[in-house]
Amino acid sequence: MPDPVQVRSMFGRIARRYDFLNRLLSMGIDRGWRRTMLRTAGQMEGARVVDVCCGTGDVAFTFQAAGADVVGIDFTPEMLLLAAAKDAARSGRFVRGDALALPVRTACADAVTIAFGIRNVADRAQGLAELARVARPGGRVLVLEFTLPPGRISGALYRLYFTRILPFVGGFVSGDRAAYRYLPDTVLAWPDPRTFQREMEAVGLVDCGFRLLTGGIACLSFGTVPRATTPST
Ligand SMILES: C[S@@+](CC[C@H](N)C(=O)[O-])C[C@H]1O[C@@H](n2cnc3c(N)ncnc32)[C@H](O)[C@@H]1O
Repeated sequence: MPDPVQVRSMFGRIARRYDFLNRLLSMGIDRGWRRTMLRTAGQMEGARVVDVCCGTGDVAFTFQAAGADVVGIDFTPEMLLLAAAKDAARSGRFVRGDALALPVRTACADAVTIAFGIRNVADRAQGLAELARVARPGGRVLVLEFTLPPGRISGALYRLYFTRILPFVGGFVSGDRAAYRYLPDTVLAWPDPRTFQREMEAVGLVDCGFRLLTGGIACLSFGTVPRATTPST
């Protein structure tokens, strides 16, 4: 289980190099994944969005560009400072807070997003319950994460990249080997998309599903907060 003190300190150390390494190590594909997240969320003009584990703000800015009013929440001050510095329009709001106890009202958002964040949260069920709490009835919860591609050959190649090349390049550029060993370790321990879908259903989300991206190296999982039903008489 990830230790929040270590996770925060690790992201604090790599914050300055985070965006550069994201682009380098994903070969720019991560931008397309965030755009897929936006398309899956639906019409976002005027929508209220809470982006959890916002980091340097890439998801928040993607949704803002589509007309959403976004609040980004993260517990690492160094990442939040970078997000605020990138916020050229000064329209985004980046707030310090823990994914396990989000500092926002219940049912305040039309959509709640989390990209490459839930894997780092110490109590996944509690983290998912918080995402579901914050979305309004009918609102969507969208979770973007790395996964292991299903095929034997692609799976083996991906493992090789993830366990050898990525820690080497990431460690070299960031100067923090441990941080880029942590990434493959947590991805290899991540549940498969169907198991994760059941975890989303277990916190009360409905219409849950997932979409594998780029041959299954990432997965966009989604669910909806049920609308209140009026009891029949
Ligand atoms: C891999 S980064 C992802 C950043 C961003 N969502 C993106 O797509 O690039 C993970 C972020 O999650 C944050 N984080 C991890 N655990 C958290 C928690 N319990 N509460 C709030 N933020 C957390 C870290 O500080 C870090 O900024």
